[in-house]
Amino acid sequence: MTYDLRRRRNTLRLRDPACAGLENLSGFEAALAAGWPPDPRRAGDQAYIRGELQRLRQDKSKFLDDLNLGDRQRTVSASPLTVLLFWIWDREFCGSINLRFHQGTEELPPEVSGHVGYSVVPWKQRSGRATAALGLLLDVAAKQGLTRLVVLCDEDNDASRRVIERNGGQFFMRGPHPSDRPERTKLYFWLHPAPAA
Ligand SMILES: CC(C)(COP(=O)(O)OP(=O)(O)OC[C@H]1O[C@@H](n2cnc3c(N)ncnc32)[C@H](O)[C@@H]1OP(=O)(O)O)[C@@H](O)C(=O)NCCC(=O)NCCS
Repeated sequence: MTYDLRRRRNTLRLRDPACAGLENLSGFEAALAAGWPPDPRRAGDQAYIRGELQRLRQDKSKFLDDLNLGDRQRTVSASPLTVLLFWIWDREFCGSINLRFHQGTEELPPEVSGHVGYSVVPWKQRSGRATAALGLLLDVAAKQGLTRLVVLCDEDNDASRRVIERNGGQFFMRGPHPSDRPERTKLYFWLHPAPAA
């Protein structure tokens, strides 16, 4: 590790895209233009990335509205799933992270691959940003009353695995997930948000 994680934690923040506003959408646009997929499962899917960029350039306000899932809920397995989306921010756009859960329970339906998803733009990777962002998201989860999260990564995703482990992730299972192709082996971890003070 060649960076100061404590300093990174102090300088990084999670921003609600709605509050960041249109004037800060340019970093997201630049990331898409450089080929960054906001959804990590769509890495390399150029049609998806180009489509997102086109949608953003057509109507920035609408794109931002759609992005900002905020307290909005989408229905999964017949019950509303809350998705809290944040931009990872260090004076500019670094990537995104989200927390998804059903109110009042720590159970997740099979369509949802864990409570957390994150992605950092390639030119800002390997400097502690994802590790710090996940630490900040644990505080958000604690405020939502969640005491135990399930977080998954692909077996060969060493970076994501390190991010989870550095935040106290406890490995408990290896195997596929119903939301992904059966040949993709995932590592499953528990993460424990500290209770809100
Ligand atoms: C996974 C990801 C978010 C990590 O972001 P990041 O900001 O580079 O992570 P950090 O800088 O906090 O690095 C955490 C650890 O992973 C290591 N790491 C980062 N990139 C790595 C890589 N490509 N290969 C191996 N280790 C890597 C870092 O060295 C660090 O290790 P350390 O704790 O021993 O110092 C980023 O690689 C990414 O966006 N990947 C594509 C999307 C993705 O896979 N998302 C996760 C889905 S589960």
